[in-house]
Amino acid sequence: MIQKINELLSAFEIDSSLIGTAEELETFRISYLGSKGQLKELFNELKNVSNESKKEFGQQVNAVRMKLEAFYNDKKEALAPIKKTSVDQDLSRTGEGITQGSHHPLSIVRNEIIEVFNRIGFDVSEGPEIEDDWHNFSALNFPKNHPARDMQDTFFIEKGEREMALRTHTSSVQVRVMENSQAPIRTISPGRVYRNEAISARAHCFFHQIEGLYIDKDVSFADLKQTLVYFAKAVFGENAQIRLRPSYFPFTEPSAEVDVSCSICEGKGCNVCKYSGWLEILGCGMVDPAVLDASGIDSSVYSGYAFGMGVERIAQLKYKVNDLRLYSENDMRFLKQFK
Ligand code: PHE
Repeated sequence: MIQKINELLSAFEIDSSLIGTAEELETFRISYLGSKGQLKELFNELKNVSNESKKEFGQQVNAVRMKLEAFYNDKKEALAPIKKTSVDQDLSRTGEGITQGSHHPLSIVRNEIIEVFNRIGFDVSEGPEIEDDWHNFSALNFPKNHPARDMQDTFFIEKGEREMALRTHTSSVQVRVMENSQAPIRTISPGRVYRNEAISARAHCFFHQIEGLYIDKDVSFADLKQTLVYFAKAVFGENAQIRLRPSYFPFTEPSAEVDVSCSICEGKGCNVCKYSGWLEILGCGMVDPAVLDASGIDSSVYSGYAFGMGVERIAQLKYKVNDLRLYSENDMRFLKQFK
């Protein structure tokens, strides 16, 4: 028995010194400590030992077992992959400030206008930027080949067989709303629109609009005017005044262009309002009955008003940013100022 113990110990001495990887350690474990391993065999040998020697040998085999197990446990820990304690796991570390972005000035102005109209019951509607002729023109009373179409220099694009256009105004969304819902309707349509114009400080090939539409029984021009007064005061301050000038749009009759009193010089005249005291901000009018009928709304029962404004224009007046190109150049020095 003592010989067997010594054989095992010397084999262990050699084998254990050769272990360098977790796989080798596992092989060692199976060979020595496994349920059919060498240690088990040694324990089985105890059966053949005389009763007097049993205690002594039993203690010796147990000591071997403890030695092997201790070795195994130490080695296992030594070979375990090193736990990474990188800085991002240091939970006691003080937090780093998150750099906060800012809204784009056009988003700020758009959100403000939406909120102003939300307060008096207008919801928000959106639609596609690539439009068909019907929604951008025909349903809005622009007959084919009518010169009014030239008012809006259009980007036409081929989409399969169909000729489509990049919408030139968000009035197209209002046609969709009229087609798909019942009067009364009270909605504003914010969105990007496109016109085929050379890019300069005063014009761009895309810009943003918010158009409004209100349809109900007995809607009158007075309702339109009051809504615009409310809007001008909410956005440009309590002292803001408006004036209406007759104008022409194919889809409204009568039509008007709206000026707001210059908030910079308070009407006294400055270089922003070109010394007139007034700034043009939007177009509006009573929805032409032909437009209502084209979208399935009975013009003998309902009437409505519509208006449309450029978001860049309002932002320009609020922030005195006179070059339209700045809004789409993503210059951080410009954008950071709108925190
Ligand atoms: N759709 C017109 C434009 O883009 C603006 C407008 C809307 C005018 C509604 C009158 C009524 O210029």
